[in-house]
Amino acid sequence: MSATPQLAPDSARFCAMMTRSYEDRIPADVRAIIAEEAIAPLGPKPHIVDLGCGPGLWLRDVAALRPDATLVGYDRDAKMLDAARGLDLKRAKWHSADVGAPDFTLKPDSCDVIAAHFFFHFFADPRRLLATIHDALRPGGSFVMTGWVRSSMADFYAFWAKARAAIESGSPEAASSNDPEAFCFQRFAEFNRYTLADIRWLLDRHGFTIRRDAMYTKNFAYLIAGAK
Ligand SMILES: C[S@@+](CC[C@H](N)C(=O)[O-])C[C@H]1O[C@@H](n2cnc3c(N)ncnc32)[C@H](O)[C@@H]1O
Repeated sequence: MSATPQLAPDSARFCAMMTRSYEDRIPADVRAIIAEEAIAPLGPKPHIVDLGCGPGLWLRDVAALRPDATLVGYDRDAKMLDAARGLDLKRAKWHSADVGAPDFTLKPDSCDVIAAHFFFHFFADPRRLLATIHDALRPGGSFVMTGWVRSSMADFYAFWAKARAAIESGSPEAASSNDPEAFCFQRFAEFNRYTLADIRWLLDRHGFTIRRDAMYTKNFAYLIAGAK
């Protein structure tokens, strides 16, 4: 059984939502910090992995910066992987895998960057994931993440009230039968699992060194860490 719950009953809609929200969730200034700190300094032909890659948009942006990089995205959702393959990136491979499964592995000392965007909050017990990432990073490599961190209920509700308005105005196919209040109540604990300080503590415990991190909205943070 996976360590992360299966969350999206309608994965086509979830995929469309991840694509549409990408620029807001991982804005250009945050991508630029990650690029400057973790991607630009890498030597030739770096190997870059994205866990829970979704529709592949972050690796698409990395490919534009580093056409020499080999890119690998992992996701367990077929619709996400179809969208990623549709990007037609020459040096990218997309694999169907449950990153939370006990048999998921990455080759030790094989990766220059491992990314997890809007992915870490799924993990109630991230110990195995962090150990795998730590072992797979090469010396000088980076673990980079963006995503949900714990916020107040008021801030969580405010985010979804705004996001819902944007989704509904931009997407006629978005069902209006979902109850956003019910969604917030059901999912609050999952999205608000870790504070940024909790994530720092977890990484420190697994041998990472935090290089840079910040909250960039009331609900989202980025973090860049080295392993060796
Ligand atoms: C919130 S989306 C983020 C997608 C992408 N990283 C982005 O930011 O655009 C989370 C993704 O993680 C994937 N996912 C969740 N749990 C997973 C698991 N255990 N193994 C592989 N993929 C998983 C989902 O299918 C989904 O594509």
